[in-house]
Amino acid sequence: MTEQKATNVTWHDHTVSKAERQKLMGHKSAVLWFTGLSGAGKSTVANTVDHLLHSKGIHTYVLDGDNVRMGLNKNLGFSAEDRAENIRRIGEVAKLFCHSGVFVLTAFISPYRADRDKAREILDQGEFIEVYVNASLETCEGRDPKGLYKKARAGEIKGFTGIDDPYEEPANPEIVLNSDNKSIDELAQEVVDYLEKNGYLSA
Ligand code: ADX
Repeated sequence: MTEQKATNVTWHDHTVSKAERQKLMGHKSAVLWFTGLSGAGKSTVANTVDHLLHSKGIHTYVLDGDNVRMGLNKNLGFSAEDRAENIRRIGEVAKLFCHSGVFVLTAFISPYRADRDKAREILDQGEFIEVYVNASLETCEGRDPKGLYKKARAGEIKGFTGIDDPYEEPANPEIVLNSDNKSIDELAQEVVDYLEKNGYLSA
C-alpha cells in the first residue's frame, strides 16, 4: 500500500458524474489492461483495437509501456519495486481516463499478479478488463522486435522478463488472446467482439 504523504488535502467529488460523461460519449468506459511478455504483441494489438474503436466513433486512448517510461515514469527502472510503482501510476492514470468517459488501453508487461490486481481494485466492477496476450517465450524471443532478448541472453540486460525475471500469468483474465498463431487483426477483433457482446459500446 502506498502511503498517503500529503496532509491537509481534501477529496473533491467531481460535479459531472461518470454516468453523465458516458451518456454524452454514447458508450461506457473501461480500462483494457493488456499484459504479457515483451514481444507478445500487446502494443500492436492495443493500437489496432484503438483504430477499430475510433473508426466506430468510440473515444479511446492508448497508454504504452515504452512511451510512458520516457515521460511520467522516466524515474523508474525494472526492479520489482519500480515495476510495482510503474503499474500503480498507470492504474491511477487509467482510472482518471475511465472516469472521463474514455476507453483506455494500457500495454505494459505488468508481470506481477498482485500489481495488476491492485489496478483492478481501484476501479468499479466491470471497468477493468484484463487482456492476457499469451505468446510462448519461444515466439517472443523469435520475434525479438527490439533485439532485447538477444541482449538478455548475452547477459547485457539483467532482470529481463521471461529470461531472468518472472512473469506471472493472469489467473482469471476477462480475455485471453493466443498470439502465437493468429493475426493481429483477428486478435483485435476478438477484443472488439468482447466489448460489443458485453454492452460496453452503447451508453
Ligand atoms: S513493466 O514490467 O513495468 O510492466 P513495461 O511494460 O513498463 O514493464 O516496460 C517493458 C518494456 O521495457 C519492454 O517492452 C522493453 O522494451 C523494455 N525493457 C527494458 N528492460 C527491460 C527488462 N529488464 N524487462 C522487461 N522489459 C524491459
